[in-house]
Amino acid sequence: MFEQRDSPYPQLKKTHTMARLGRPWTDHKPPPAAPVWSVIEGLGSYYILLAAIELDIFDVIDRTGPTRVETLSKETDSSTYHLRLLLDAVVALGLLDQFDDIYQLNDTAKRYLLTDGPASMAGLVAVAPGPQTNWACLADTVRSGRVASPIENDRAGFYVPLVEGTFTTMYRCAARSDLKLGYSAMSSPRILDLGAGGAPWAIAVLERNSTATAVVNDLPIVIDVAQRKVVQHGVADRTEFLTGDFHQVDLPADEFDLVILGHVCRTEGADGAIDLIKRAFAATRPGGRLILADYFVDPERKLNPHAVLMAATMMASTTRGAGFTHQQFAGWIRSAGFEALRVIEPIGFQQQIVASKPREGQ
Ligand SMILES: C[S@@+](CC[C@H](N)C(=O)[O-])C[C@H]1O[C@@H](n2cnc3c(N)ncnc32)[C@H](O)[C@@H]1O
Repeated sequence: MFEQRDSPYPQLKKTHTMARLGRPWTDHKPPPAAPVWSVIEGLGSYYILLAAIELDIFDVIDRTGPTRVETLSKETDSSTYHLRLLLDAVVALGLLDQFDDIYQLNDTAKRYLLTDGPASMAGLVAVAPGPQTNWACLADTVRSGRVASPIENDRAGFYVPLVEGTFTTMYRCAARSDLKLGYSAMSSPRILDLGAGGAPWAIAVLERNSTATAVVNDLPIVIDVAQRKVVQHGVADRTEFLTGDFHQVDLPADEFDLVILGHVCRTEGADGAIDLIKRAFAATRPGGRLILADYFVDPERKLNPHAVLMAATMMASTTRGAGFTHQQFAGWIRSAGFEALRVIEPIGFQQQIVASKPREGQ
């Protein structure tokens, strides 16, 4: 009998092969270390992509076409030695292709990493994790229950680049959701977009329905982004702006056909999310609909790691942010008075709960 013991590569020991012993060396095989390595390398992977974006690598290759490191180091004013190692790492991450020392954009880079790619996330990479200093002291945050630099200390400083960075994705999502929501066919719909950011939802509806009008809410300074975007998209004449805290601003009762809560609930904690849903209900006209977009945590915490990690990101950098499950949101939405709930996913990773306010007499 062999004793049960650990070994770095048990399966590689020649003397322990099936052929020699007639059975595996041991029935206990330690689990691979790959999950731990993948986490350790996660930090480096993030900074490798961030550096490639900061150096404009993707946009430069788009301009030059497939090219060698020497050209890229001239174009980006970088050390050839260091740049080659960075580029190879970007290739290893699957975000660039390489063939015979020639680097070229692959489909992922063209779609997501070019500044003006059709689904560009280039502006999002730097801001999506929240203030990076908060990650370095995460254990302190968990121990003390206090975040060192919560985003609430400088909301405009955090949200202006964030909503610029998320606009392309959220706009694509809002535009695609017409297939499920049919807002382009509605007659003179009124839209309320609370915490609108660059107003991707309001803009998508206004562009696809020339009879629609919108009220767009956000905090001072952040709302400037929405003001700029509605002009760029040619829908400023049908947009009103309501500047201020979405928990406080006056909202007309029973007015809106579509009320959007787009990725605003998870920073507010359970009480704040419930308050926003109640306010949305009061502002929705009977027969109108709520659209609540978020990253919904699954009960197992394994089926949608993206949402669970987003919840941890909230914990790391907000005073009361969290992640909520479909069930939690559904309970709050029903308690507020909405009915006929359904979940739509117009583009990958982007889900919304859609619910209706009952018509009078129902
Ligand atoms: C994650 S962004 C979502 C933006 C947009 N709704 C979307 O789906 O792309 C959250 C937005 O909520 C806004 N916000 C945060 N707290 C707010 C508050 N108390 N009152 C109004 N807006 C707020 C932020 O400024 C930011 O624009």
